[in-house]
Amino acid sequence: MRFIITKNYQELSQKAADLVIKQIKQKPNSVLGLATGSTPLGLYQNLVKVYKQGSIDFKKITTFNLDEYYGLAPTDKQSYHYFMWHNLFSKININPKNIFIPDGLIKKNQLKIYCQNYEREIKKHGGIDLQILGLGQNGHLGFNEPGFNFNSKTRLVNLTKTTILANSRFFNNKKIMPRQAVTMGLKTITQAKKIILLASGENKAKVIALAVKGQVTAKVPASILQKHKNTTFILDQKAVSLL
Ligand code: GLP
Repeated sequence: MRFIITKNYQELSQKAADLVIKQIKQKPNSVLGLATGSTPLGLYQNLVKVYKQGSIDFKKITTFNLDEYYGLAPTDKQSYHYFMWHNLFSKININPKNIFIPDGLIKKNQLKIYCQNYEREIKKHGGIDLQILGLGQNGHLGFNEPGFNFNSKTRLVNLTKTTILANSRFFNNKKIMPRQAVTMGLKTITQAKKIILLASGENKAKVIALAVKGQVTAKVPASILQKHKNTTFILDQKAVSLL
């Protein structure tokens, strides 16, 4: 594990963008694993900025998103499809054919095959070169909640109360927040060649300490990153206050 500690969120977003840009320059047809949530927003803004300056090309990039709420249409403002298009894809020259985000509207009886295909598609593209991760306050990665299997693949999962509470801030009405999601599994995530985990703020300090210094345990899904060969944690000072 490598650590980059930054003084604030702004610097964290800059460092993350520097690493993503380096990856794309080294391998213009990189396969990127992308995350949503508030933490990677600054990273995406920086990527858009650098793209507008003309110094980076996304034409050959392929992306796989970690997860999507089950039951939300891509046009729904709370969906991760909408998030990605609004914050990144519509602002860069990525080929829409190269964008993969789990479908939140897939019918239950087609889910199994759909999820197997998502995994197959990742493999077909040669695997994920660089996976960006945020972190749930309960240590979840994607929507892999505490207690889930380290060998898990892409599938439908139930969200925990902690996640529903934490993420309901994005929904006008808590009751309409989906209770399920389609997420890459922990195995899918840890098969990425490189991983960058971003965490900012005091509310992540406790879980960062557990993930980085604690036991590798399914109770803290992010602790599995201790076993990954090429993970960089980019953390701001508030997020490391308990380390
Ligand atoms: C959601 C996503 C996670 C993300 C988490 C943290 O639950 N499924 O992938 O890491 O939010 O969000 P934030 O960055 O807003 O704290």
